[in-house]
Amino acid sequence: MLSINNITKAYPSRTGNNPTIALDDVSFTIKGKEFVSIVGKSGAGKTTLLKLILAEEKPNNGQILFDDLDIHKIKSSQLPKLRQRIGTVFQDYKLFPSKTTYENVAYVMEAMGASKDEIERDVSQILGIVGLADRVDNFPNELSGGEKQRVAIARALIHRPDIILADEPTGNLDPYHTFDIIRLLVKIYELGTTVILATHDKEVINSLGKRVITLDQGRVVRDEEKGRFIL
Ligand SMILES: Nc1ncnc2c1ncn2[C@@H]1O[C@H](COP(=O)(O)OP(=O)(O)OP(=O)(O)O)[C@@H](O)[C@H]1O
Ligand SMILES: [Mg+2]
Repeated sequence: MLSINNITKAYPSRTGNNPTIALDDVSFTIKGKEFVSIVGKSGAGKTTLLKLILAEEKPNNGQILFDDLDIHKIKSSQLPKLRQRIGTVFQDYKLFPSKTTYENVAYVMEAMGASKDEIERDVSQILGIVGLADRVDNFPNELSGGEKQRVAIARALIHRPDIILADEPTGNLDPYHTFDIIRLLVKIYELGTTVILATHDKEVINSLGKRVITLDQGRVVRDEEKGRFIL
């Protein structure tokens, strides 16, 4: 499904010094539905890797195949279609403060020209899945951090993506809400979506018992089924 082949990414230096090698000959494949965690110290290249998968950055070397699509070779007009297949979740939620839970999820479908009936049906269903059926009319400032992250996850799910990329989704949450969100991501995986989770959280990784890819200075130093957090 996703093939990362010998990816190298260097960011040019602003001062004329050596470029920063964010990713150095990174390869791995995700065959079917999987829950994969990416771990590594700050600066190891986790976010860069997710940006490359989203085609927000281009690699200096290597290719990323999504099914048979070389995502850095497709036309820019095809990018929105690719990105609909990939849902994203970030540490800082990125919600519209002046929109309710319902509206924060619905606007994605409105932007695509879906009908009111379709929107109502899908948004209600997704908010049910993420456990926010009783928070539909609340604004973000009336929600807990965990609830805000659930809204963001609902929004990421609305296009029924093949993959969810989650970059430190529990970075701002206490341990209780952290596990709440991780359980939700596991549920989404069990319902059929591949989840790629970048995290610093040792307890989360060690409790998951799923595949772990460890990056160190832009290199894959470990790729283990039922991996543990070792830095
Ligand atoms: N836009 C950019 N321009 C220049 N250098 C960058 C840019 N983005 C990232 N870097 C550098 O690339 C390296 C990898 O950064 P990246 O953000 O991918 O790390 P990370 O593993 O996500 O770290 P963290 O855990 O702190 O989020 C770092 O050395 C960083 O300073
Ligand atoms: Mg990062």
